Amino acid sequence: MPDARGDARHPIDALIDSPGREGLTGTAPASLYTPPAHREQVSVAPDFAPPEAQPAWRQDFPIDWPQDVYVERRDFVKFLVLTSAAFTLGQVWIGVQNWYRKRRGRPGVQRIASQDDLAVGAALSFTYPDAHEPCLLVRVAEREFVAFSQKCTHLSCAVYYAAATDRLECPCHNGAFSVETGRVLQGPPPRPLPRIKLDQRGDDIYAVGVEQGDEP
Ligand code: FES
Repeated sequence: MPDARGDARHPIDALIDSPGREGLTGTAPASLYTPPAHREQVSVAPDFAPPEAQPAWRQDFPIDWPQDVYVERRDFVKFLVLTSAAFTLGQVWIGVQNWYRKRRGRPGVQRIASQDDLAVGAALSFTYPDAHEPCLLVRVAEREFVAFSQKCTHLSCAVYYAAATDRLECPCHNGAFSVETGRVLQGPPPRPLPRIKLDQRGDDIYAVGVEQGDEP
């Protein structure tokens, strides 16, 4: 039978404490006027079961999965900006290093030894063009001297002059180089040894430059 408003589907309950009239008595739950949550903001458990079917521990410590994986546009832009800044700084750093290397210019002229310091077939260690670059001067004949970087082009072990075989040898992996040209004779070294250009002034031997041995 229709009620006073004529709505047969929602008849008015005369009782003030009936479930449908709780709001009128001041006993309505606090969530009654809360706007419904957006679909994306509703937590869904990994097993997709409703919240009331979840174990107690999950109900006590719920995780808002959608919120947890949500990435704000601002955060995404921040990430892009920071990543780009890191790349830019890296490029600037490489540029500064190149500029510094060019500014250092050509290696200088450096006296190595007097020719009387070395017997024929003997070798002498020195550093050139700076204190971190070990080199080897070899007197291969009465009036012939050669010098090479002492760093093996394989893994930078120190090569030595082997008078018995008349070549520069690397003890680490059996590499060997020609004492005449620095080219690889055997073993794993991929490139010839860098050659130190020499200049003889009177009795003194000078280093005046470095020739990279790029050819295999
Ligand atoms: S480091 Fe010289 S051969 Fe390996």
